[in-house]
Amino acid sequence: MNINAKTGIAANDTAEMLVFYLYEENKKIHTALEPFDTSFNHAISELLKNKEFVAKLNNTCTLPTYGKFPSQRIMLVGLGKKEDITIDKIRQAAGTSVKTAQNMGIKKVTSIMDSMEISAQKTEEWYQAFTEGVVLGLYQFKKYKETKPEEEKEIKILTLLLSDKEVLPLAKEGIRRGQIIADAVSFARDLVNTPSQDKTPTILSNIAKNLAKERAITCKILSVPDLKKLNMGGILGIAQGSTQPPKFIILEYNPRNKNQDTIVIVGKGITFDSGGICLKPAKGMEQMKSDMSGGATVLGIFSVLAQLKVPQRVVGLIPCTENMPGGSAIKPGDIVKFHSGKTAEVANTDAEGRLILADALAYAEKFHPDAVVDFATLTGACVVALGNIATGMMGNNEELKNRIKIAGEKSWERVWELPLWEEYQELIKSDIADIKNTGGPGAGTITAACFLSKFTEKYPWVHLDIAGTSWSEKNNAYIQKGATGVGIMLILELLKNWKKFPKEK
Ligand code: BES
Ligand code: MN
Ligand code: ZN
Repeated sequence: MNINAKTGIAANDTAEMLVFYLYEENKKIHTALEPFDTSFNHAISELLKNKEFVAKLNNTCTLPTYGKFPSQRIMLVGLGKKEDITIDKIRQAAGTSVKTAQNMGIKKVTSIMDSMEISAQKTEEWYQAFTEGVVLGLYQFKKYKETKPEEEKEIKILTLLLSDKEVLPLAKEGIRRGQIIADAVSFARDLVNTPSQDKTPTILSNIAKNLAKERAITCKILSVPDLKKLNMGGILGIAQGSTQPPKFIILEYNPRNKNQDTIVIVGKGITFDSGGICLKPAKGMEQMKSDMSGGATVLGIFSVLAQLKVPQRVVGLIPCTENMPGGSAIKPGDIVKFHSGKTAEVANTDAEGRLILADALAYAEKFHPDAVVDFATLTGACVVALGNIATGMMGNNEELKNRIKIAGEKSWERVWELPLWEEYQELIKSDIADIKNTGGPGAGTITAACFLSKFTEKYPWVHLDIAGTSWSEKNNAYIQKGATGVGIMLILELLKNWKKFPKEK
């Protein structure tokens, strides 16, 4: 689909369908809609007056133009109350409108952007969000389905029509950014939705290597002999039970700017989590192909850093392995020794994420990071605590947590903090090793983060538990059932406004 912006008048537009956006409380219809209302004998005003169409978010209504305008149809899309509008609702309304049009078999759509009443300062943001909603709303994972050509419906051209040519450059910039970011999210969603058989650690490494075609990006893959040399007992321990060899992906984006900060992003890359010897129940186990969502988020980010000309140095680390119960699998009670030299007793082989992340987080020190953020589908307890609305956040640095909280609100990939108080650290003490990988029945998300915190003492660090937010159980306006690609919009927003990170005294 081609998405473009231009100036013009709705009544003269030749697209098959024109889309108008309406606020719930607006009594008078928008000026852009007036010529249509007049020529339809005020049918639109009547609809609104009689509440046959109420402009609640995602409500739609289509009307034919009976040959009175170059365009055959118009669609009304509700935005809800104007005072309650958010970036998320713009994405939703955008997604809803293109999905509805596409299902009707329409190929050429024009969105009447003036009807959204965008304030001058918000132009770029709203066009970006709108574009994200369009692209992500139409996202589908169809690679493994037989497609019948007659079922193929696709919008070919979407024009965002506006009247003020002064704002056109800002609108275009918003569309450009939105398109790039939404493509990155779609790329991550594809990876997460892909069955485990087709995204082994080796396959993911090759995908990562492909991203290094960009001049500013390099990619290095550590295999078993390298991991042994580096004493990465966590990732090696978990990989023991699988016939697939583990890989440790290292991506580096370096735009070579003066004064740049180094930000390391770590992503959990369990390409299938069976639980290992502490085998998970069969019901719902298929969803554990998504246990590499953190890794997919890192790959998604790296797919667009160069295009977006991000000025900071960014390092991506993805420890990749399956967690399987093979004959040589790690057993409850075994002790692993990490890259940092610390040891852990494996009380439960299903708490594998923290073991592979421990090695990756310890390794992150090598890059002298100004900040480290990790993404991991780490605990079922996080799904219980926050559902799929907020990502769980824990960390050791107030400034970094604050920046991520703000970026979360701006991108609508919101995070919610849980405490990492030292009392919780008691729960992961082991009788025979430095720590153990479970913390008992309570505070599962926090004790998992406590475990990670033992490897992040040298730098500002935030852990994001995306167990709930990386997967959607149902279809929404711009998030379909399955992978969400969470975290990419958040980090790109964080990097967009990144200021030199204060060194701690
Ligand atoms: N990958 C899972 C966590 C998970 C659960 C992600 C549900 C997405 C949806 C993780 O490896 C795991 O199994 N965690 C255990 C830890 C426990 C054994 C301490 C859990 O949460 O049950
Ligand atoms: Mn597990
Ligand atoms: Zn897992």
